[in-house]
Amino acid sequence: MNSKEKAARSAYEKIQSKFHKDFILGIGTGSTTNYFIEILKEENPEMKCFVSSSIASSNLLKDAGYDDAELNDVGGPDVYVDGADEVNTKFEAIKGGGGALTREKIIASASKKFICIVDDSKIVKKFGNFPVAVEVIPMARSYVSRQIVAMGCRPTYRIGFVTDNGNQIIDVLNLNFDVPYETEMKLNKIPGVVENGIFSARKADVVIVSDGERTYELE
Ligand code: A5P
Repeated sequence: MNSKEKAARSAYEKIQSKFHKDFILGIGTGSTTNYFIEILKEENPEMKCFVSSSIASSNLLKDAGYDDAELNDVGGPDVYVDGADEVNTKFEAIKGGGGALTREKIIASASKKFICIVDDSKIVKKFGNFPVAVEVIPMARSYVSRQIVAMGCRPTYRIGFVTDNGNQIIDVLNLNFDVPYETEMKLNKIPGVVENGIFSARKADVVIVSDGERTYELE
């Protein structure tokens, strides 16, 4: 079992007793989340439905026989399980390597609990190595990029990628991470930005890490 799979297994064990006929699961996107979905397929726990951050994850869970619900139609998931690209010791995260950041942030925010599952390479003292994905309305892409350059940062258009919301992604390096919350808010104030991949306003409640040998919760 690799470290992503071990983190996913540990998350399942943590919430295993909470599954019941009215349980609503929020599900993220990415390779670590896919391991969690595989475990659900094996263990087949009872739940009312799931709310998914991507078409890819929806399809996997529907194949496993679970019902896909719209966030608008349910109160809010009991638990949201998802991976991350970077996590710091304050449980803030950078997400969006897979481009699903907007739906991920909405569902994480609507959920009672956000459990983040990562391999230990994702734990950092300070963000900055992994580019921050910024989802933009297509007609605003160049304008938003210029505003980001004016902030002293380096935007790169993710060519050929269209989000599940029909938008585009700009990956940004060289952002100021002294206070991640301020950068999260600043990026979202640029007209044309739909959302960005800094999860500070909604950080994780629990971070489960595995290095392959040891699996533990961040404290
Ligand atoms: C998807 O948009 C991302 O936020 C993922 O959660 C993140 O990139 C982690 O992906 P992996 O689990 O594949 O490393």
